[in-house]
Amino acid sequence: MLKTRHLIEPSDLTLEELDDLFTLAERIEKEPLYLRESCRGKLLAVLFFEPSTRTRLSFEAAMFRLGGSCLGFADPSASSTVKGESLADTVRMVACYADVIVMRNPKEGAALLASRYSSVPVINAGDGGHHHPTQTLTDLLAIRRLRGFIGNFTIGFCGDLKFGRTVHSLAKTLVRYCGVKQMFISPPELRVPSYITTELGVNGIEYVETDSIESVIGQLDVLYMTRVQKERFFNEEDYIRLKDTYILDTRKMELAKKDLFVLHPLPRVNEITPEVDSDPRAVYFKQAKFGMFIRMALLAEILDTVI
Ligand code: NCD
Repeated sequence: MLKTRHLIEPSDLTLEELDDLFTLAERIEKEPLYLRESCRGKLLAVLFFEPSTRTRLSFEAAMFRLGGSCLGFADPSASSTVKGESLADTVRMVACYADVIVMRNPKEGAALLASRYSSVPVINAGDGGHHHPTQTLTDLLAIRRLRGFIGNFTIGFCGDLKFGRTVHSLAKTLVRYCGVKQMFISPPELRVPSYITTELGVNGIEYVETDSIESVIGQLDVLYMTRVQKERFFNEEDYIRLKDTYILDTRKMELAKKDLFVLHPLPRVNEITPEVDSDPRAVYFKQAKFGMFIRMALLAEILDTVI
């Protein structure tokens, strides 16, 4: 059973709990029948106030594969939110019907607020440009599976580091692992927030900020590409100006190490050309599959159904 009932930020989990989740996810992947019926009779409420493909579907697939069921909405226009119901009231009601809630919301802090009104555990599936802890679990499991363990590598985050919640959650969590050097590659307007670099500085973690991918790609063991987050821009002109700042193509891949891994939380827009997909170093589709196994492990732990 996890120490915490809610998962709002990755820091809600201890390093030991993270490690246990990865071990459990690996076992589930190897032994598909293990935990198959463990959540029978349990209900997952899926409340998505923002679009999603992977996160929502992998949570639903995870719950079904554990023998449980799901209810909820993928579009808030079908909920009482359009009638003016507050998030607090919606969550209070849903908690009467379900055993656990997974929620995505465009407002930073929404998951934390929901957790204060919910009598069942709340899992944050993304709150605005703030955090996305289960994507971090997915990313870390991918790194562990691909590199053997989490530590002693250089990671480059590239793209929209200002609004990219997956970057914020992963960068902050990697501070807790040994020997991880972080490089932040972005245009000046989309730099990583200072609360992240302050966290790195305070912990004595080496990091670099640059706007040139070519100048650092050769030093990276992991390249974490991201999409420019169109929905968080205040004006379209800025988005159009910045959206194609970085395009990873086969020419740039020639500058990279032979054992680099390219991760991306997906969806991809233009930032990786389709030719790169056939490069064995491009592992973003494999990474997405780890998301289902780690969400199975998380649900089984939160619902305390691991035998
Ligand atoms: C990410 C998100 O929603 O923050 N997607 C995901 O959950 N895999 C990344 C993105 O939308 O760019």
